[in-house]
Amino acid sequence: MKPMFNRILFGGDYNPNQWPQDIWQEDMAMFEKAHINSATINVFSWAQIQPSENQYDFSELDQIVALLSKEKKEIVLATATGALPAWMFKTYPEVGRTDYQGRHHKFGQRHNACPNSLVYQKYAAALAGKLAERYGDNPNVICWHINNEYQGDCYCDNCEKAFRVWLKDKYQTIDALNKAWNMSFWGHTVYEWDEIVLPNALSEGIGQDKTAFAGISIDYRRFSSDSLLENFKMERAAIRQFDPSTPVTTNLMGTFKGLDYFKWAKEMDIVSWDNYPAYNTPWSLVSMTHDLMRGLKQQPFMLMEQTPSQQNWQPYNSLKKPGQMRAQSYQTIAHGADTIQFFQLRRSIGACEKFHGAVIEHVGHENTRVFRETADLGKELSQLSEIMGTENHGKTALLFDWDNYWALEYTSGPTIDLTYVDQIHHYYRYFYDRNIPVDMVSEMDDLTGYDLVVAPVLYMVKAGVSERLTTFVEKGGTLVTTYMSGIVDQSDNVHLGGYPGPLRELAGIWVEEIDALAPEQVNQVRINDHLSGSSYLVSDIIHLEGAEALAHYTSNFYAGMPAVTKHAYGKGTVFYFGTRLDTASFDHIMNDVKETAGIEPILAEQTALEITRRQSESHDYYFLINFQSAPQTLPARFAGKVDLLSGMTLEDKQQLPQYSTYIIKEERHL
Ligand code: GLA
Ligand code: ZN
Repeated sequence: MKPMFNRILFGGDYNPNQWPQDIWQEDMAMFEKAHINSATINVFSWAQIQPSENQYDFSELDQIVALLSKEKKEIVLATATGALPAWMFKTYPEVGRTDYQGRHHKFGQRHNACPNSLVYQKYAAALAGKLAERYGDNPNVICWHINNEYQGDCYCDNCEKAFRVWLKDKYQTIDALNKAWNMSFWGHTVYEWDEIVLPNALSEGIGQDKTAFAGISIDYRRFSSDSLLENFKMERAAIRQFDPSTPVTTNLMGTFKGLDYFKWAKEMDIVSWDNYPAYNTPWSLVSMTHDLMRGLKQQPFMLMEQTPSQQNWQPYNSLKKPGQMRAQSYQTIAHGADTIQFFQLRRSIGACEKFHGAVIEHVGHENTRVFRETADLGKELSQLSEIMGTENHGKTALLFDWDNYWALEYTSGPTIDLTYVDQIHHYYRYFYDRNIPVDMVSEMDDLTGYDLVVAPVLYMVKAGVSERLTTFVEKGGTLVTTYMSGIVDQSDNVHLGGYPGPLRELAGIWVEEIDALAPEQVNQVRINDHLSGSSYLVSDIIHLEGAEALAHYTSNFYAGMPAVTKHAYGKGTVFYFGTRLDTASFDHIMNDVKETAGIEPILAEQTALEITRRQSESHDYYFLINFQSAPQTLPARFAGKVDLLSGMTLEDKQQLPQYSTYIIKEERHL
């Protein structure tokens, strides 16, 4: 597709307003040395540009914009609404949030606005509009960055009123709402809309994360995501009054639970996100998260933030080792990014982020490892713009759905160890290890074009989903689904008639009971009558209704019953995992899945390298990255090819050290 920008944006969050002006000049000189061509500004400057209710002061921002424009930097201009100014709290305490415990917050921190406060909305929209009016036609302003990492909930009276309006719109009648939430349970029937209260610690909440009425709490999650999305749309509309065309984004946070990003992405011109893995985050999970962010629009995205070296907010903030930042940057590009931006360009002197890494460190000069690595990467990226707009295509789709995420984690029973992202990642890992490209898709996405659809813990099956999956299988597709699937509808009420509800006929099984296995409990299984394995987490007790068993339990009172099944349906096949298997057993069955679906890896050879492919209409770009601590041998397939980054020819059996990265460009012969 046509790229959104003219070159790979390389830069990041820049806060000159925290520094005296002589430092700005030093910054410009150092940016030049580091090949930095872009700066994201004004992210948290509301207090500077609106010092009081009726007073705006753009003089400093004017200077910053003028300086960056003179230096020919592309500007990502934030609307500064991610942190409220103190005067607003003082005059209008309602702009603050009321938390889950019911405490109304005072001025402090950031991401602190009640999304349903009309005062906040008025001032946020006014500010976005003024910025667009002032800077929207500056050709250097190439992207709008609305707010920052939208997140968090509010349980104030304004939100409660707004929740009732949202519910009225959704359910129309109080009877429909009572039915949806199954309110005859514990005598919860309501008769008037104003009897409905927000589900927090003072009402339905059980502990921090559980609830007595998942139906209410899931609707609150949807409402909360929608409330913030309305804030985003409101600022976007204010911008569009003055600037009809500059792309608008907001920085997302990967698998962050609070917002339904598939819904959000529809409102964004380009997806951007902030990638902050911990020192021990599996590379497969980072890869999956990039694929998810690409999958929101199935288009290239922006890496709005990563640290060049270190974070401050993890429990252990390890340095990125030499070469690691480069490798991670190329991993990001390999999975679909068209920009590499950092938080932050200069390290702040005070408050909680002074230990957060930056391109320019506290020492203030460029003779640092981090600066050198940044500059080297910047130089490489300045010659790689041909990669922009190229696409990632897979034949395997992995379903990710925020409603499902919320519902699965709210549900009371059968085990507290069922967490959504971990479950999805468990399936993704198989493909990652084999260099099989995966597209992360929503339940609502079109499945045409895929050969394999993997739908783990498809707990909530909303209207239309089972029909879509059935059509996919009937036409010859292969579907994988698992325990805790087909259980409830969109309101968290059970699909009656036996698990897995609407998927029962498709899977050709009936799950009579679901056992929970505590961490110290393991079941034994036998796979295809020759391999012994172990099973964890949950054990479905399965009756075959047309499917065949691929594995049986060999322990517990359900020994002899199926643990994994395979069902021919229409022209396709459905695999069902009734339990979580050890890796070897799981991979063994997944090999069957892969062969049944006819899925091909990018590279047939076994390798521990991460190999990803982006494609233009005429060319393939193979990204080879070694994330293993031990050196890896170059796959024979790439021997004699030229690395696009270094211009070097790769040699047969060449040893690739940790974090080494190569891009091989090949013409595609159709
Ligand atoms: C987030 C924020 C940034 C900064 C970084 C630190 O991504 O958007 O403002 O706080 O975290 O890692
Ligand atoms: Zn509120």
